[in-house]
Order: sequence, then structure tokens, then C-alpha cells
Amino acid sequence: MTLLEVRPLTARDHSAVAAVLSNDNGYAERVLGRPSRLQDVDELMASRPPGTSADQKPSLGLWVDNDLVGVAELMSDFPELGTNYLGVLQIRADCQGQGLARAFHDQIAATFQEARRWRLTVVDTNSDVQGFWERMGYEQTGESRPWNSGSGVEHSVFVMERDAE
Ligand SMILES: CC(C)(COP(=O)(O)OP(=O)(O)OC[C@H]1O[C@@H](n2cnc3c(N)ncnc32)[C@H](O)[C@@H]1OP(=O)(O)O)[C@@H](O)C(=O)NCCC(=O)NCCS
Repeated sequence: MTLLEVRPLTARDHSAVAAVLSNDNGYAERVLGRPSRLQDVDELMASRPPGTSADQKPSLGLWVDNDLVGVAELMSDFPELGTNYLGVLQIRADCQGQGLARAFHDQIAATFQEARRWRLTVVDTNSDVQGFWERMGYEQTGESRPWNSGSGVEHSVFVMERDAE
């Protein structure tokens, strides 16, 4: 029987997280304009918006039979009280297409169920993922804003939200 586990990432998971981020089917190139690099692991695990606290931002992993296959970044009560913001949810490329992102998403939603609303942004150059989020119950809110990944390319991001169940 397959064992699926969702738990917070720790420093011990650093190299496994790097393996997930680098085995990405071009996701970093699409969003950041470059391949993933080691500093992205620290970014995922430690960075957070100004004015927020560390306990608002668990970085989470999905393990299948003790193998890390997915990572996600959650900000609770962001940008406002009662809203949970998903910064990223990524499944290792060789494990995609097996329902693991849905299982990961559903378990996160069930664990952090005090939120009234779930929110995320999609980068224009990664908009193929919109259909995935629609399958997870999100809808576009109509909000969009410019975003610069630091690559020099000007992007726009659009916002998707869903009510908590
Ligand atoms: C998007 C991503 C997380 C999907 O992971 P996955 O494990 O392949 O997804 P699942 O197999 O759990 O698919 C769940 C459902 O979404 C659908 N789906 C998955 N990717 C999709 C896509 N790009 N477009 C439309 N539907 C999609 C599946 O068909 C499935 O539908 P069903 O459950 O109704 O049959 C994965 O492709 C990924 O890591 N991409 C790179 C990172 C990224 O873009 N993350 C999102 C932005 S933060």
C-alpha cells in the first residue's frame, strides 16, 4: 500500500527539496526565466513577505513512501485575516499526472481549515496551470498586477480564489 504523508519541510530535507525544484519540466524557466538553483530552496523554506511571522508560513512537503515528491508554500492569514495564500505547489516532474497534486492540495486544505478563503496567483508565462487550479475549485477573481521575477522580463500575474469547504 502507498503511504502519502504531508508534513513541514525541515533543514534535513534540503537536498530532496532541491531535487523536486530542479526536476520541474521547465517551470523555473517559465516563471523565473532561468533554471532552478540551490538558493531557490532557501527561498522556498525561509522567505516570507515583510510584516509576517515565521509561524504564518509553513513550507510543506508531500512524501510518497518516504520519497519527497512535492513541495508547497503556504501563508496563513495573508494578505488578510481568514485568507490562506498558496505561494507554490509543485510536484516533481517524474511524479506528475498521478493525482498527487490533488491529494497534496486536499490534505493541505483539510489541515489548515480555519481559513475562510484560499488564494493564489498564476504567472502569465505559466498560465497552462490555470486548468489545474480550476479542477481544484479556484476561479479567477479578475485581479491582475505586473510582476518582475528579477529576470528582466515583465510579467503579469492573475489571482485565483476559492471558498473554504
Ligand atoms: C500543476 C501541477 C502541480 C499538477 O500536478 P499533478 O500531480 O500532475 O496533478 P494531478 O495529477 O493531481 O491532477 C489533478 C487534476 O488536475 C488536472 N490537471 C493537472 N495539470 C493540469 C493542467 N496543466 N491543466 C489542466 N488540468 C490539469 C488533472 O487532469 C487532474 O484532473 P482530475 O483529478 O479531475 O482528473 C504540476 O504540473 C506541477 O508541479 N507543475 C509545475 C509547478 C506549477 O506550475 N505549480 C502551480 C503554480 S504555483
